[in-house]
Amino acid sequence: MKTIEPTEISVGVVGLGLMGSSIIVSLLKAGHEVIAVAPVAEEAIVAPQRILEQISICRDLNLLDDPITTYLEKLTVTEDYSRLAGCGIVLECVVEKIEIKEQVYRKIAEVVGNDTVVATNTSAIAISTLQKHISHPERFLGIHWAEPAYATRFLEITCGQKTYSSYADWIYNLAERWDKEPTLLKKDIHGFITNRLMYAVCREALNIVETGQASLDDVDKSFRYDVGSWISLMGIFRRMDFLGLKDYFEIFSNTFPVLCNSDKVPEVMQKLVDTDARGIYNYRGLYNYTAEEAARWEETFKMFNGEIYFLATLFPSRLPKEVQTVKWPK
Ligand SMILES: NC(=O)c1ccc[n+]([C@@H]2O[C@H](COP(=O)([O-])OP(=O)(O)OC[C@H]3O[C@@H](n4cnc5c(N)ncnc54)[C@H](O)[C@@H]3O)[C@@H](O)[C@H]2O)c1
Repeated sequence: MKTIEPTEISVGVVGLGLMGSSIIVSLLKAGHEVIAVAPVAEEAIVAPQRILEQISICRDLNLLDDPITTYLEKLTVTEDYSRLAGCGIVLECVVEKIEIKEQVYRKIAEVVGNDTVVATNTSAIAISTLQKHISHPERFLGIHWAEPAYATRFLEITCGQKTYSSYADWIYNLAERWDKEPTLLKKDIHGFITNRLMYAVCREALNIVETGQASLDDVDKSFRYDVGSWISLMGIFRRMDFLGLKDYFEIFSNTFPVLCNSDKVPEVMQKLVDTDARGIYNYRGLYNYTAEEAARWEETFKMFNGEIYFLATLFPSRLPKEVQTVKWPK
């Protein structure tokens, strides 16, 4: 498939919630024309304001240079699926329910061409399962974004059983124009790459706490100040190389047998579900929060994302020839 400039291709986004809105900003930032479809009527009224606020945040973070109107001119917000007709890609970003996603795919497929790439942002449903609900399933794949999409480098492309790899490769190349560091999962395994890795870490972390070996806070601190000091630069395998591989075989032989391999969800999670504890959203979770603390965490995370995003520009996955002096672009 030939390389295409973002300005040459319209992208549709269906679902203008938390993720849909920030994905739209990311696409506008890359230069695409965006057709934003609100599947629920009132969303067409509230989404433009949310998108506008996110464009402003991007400008505050120095992620966008042009006047706000430059981006808004390329955005159409509508409830009308037929406006997707000319799109080369349509991203589905609606609630995590198969039956709802299925209805949305039917409406998209009715109006777009047979070779329009249709992608889902699902976090947890198998791509091969969703693919069954769309005509021409070979053009269907997963494009999994991280929130906020305009200030994160992560983008996970996942093929289902029937996806043609040519479509995935095409999106992979285009994603670099979205300022992403895309990854390609050729066959959808449960949890894709990143969630699968994190679920393994969560199981071990919860086990350490449940067996009373360390507090929640100390497990978090270890992760932040050890793993956090190298992971954004190196990932896992380069870190192993960096430390020297000499002792790993013996370490793994001794450690793998003692790691948690329970297939039961830890009891603490059941208690949280039973009491409807939803973390910072209702101030009760693994930690407790006041409303001010919850707001401060949200605000701090936003700022932190901006910093990490710039840091990743200075230290991309392929390092520049010379180590650069870090200068914050502010
Ligand atoms: N929030 C995240 O950090 C995150 C990260 C990666 C992937 N995702 C995935 O992105 C998708 C959307 O998540 P979100 O966080 O934006 O959710 P959200 O709750 O903010 O938005 C949900 C969207 O679903 C739409 N919707 C609700 N009921 C509908 C219906 N009956 N028919 C059609 N559309 C309906 C809403 O209009 C809204 O646009 C989910 O599949 C989620 O798993 C979310």
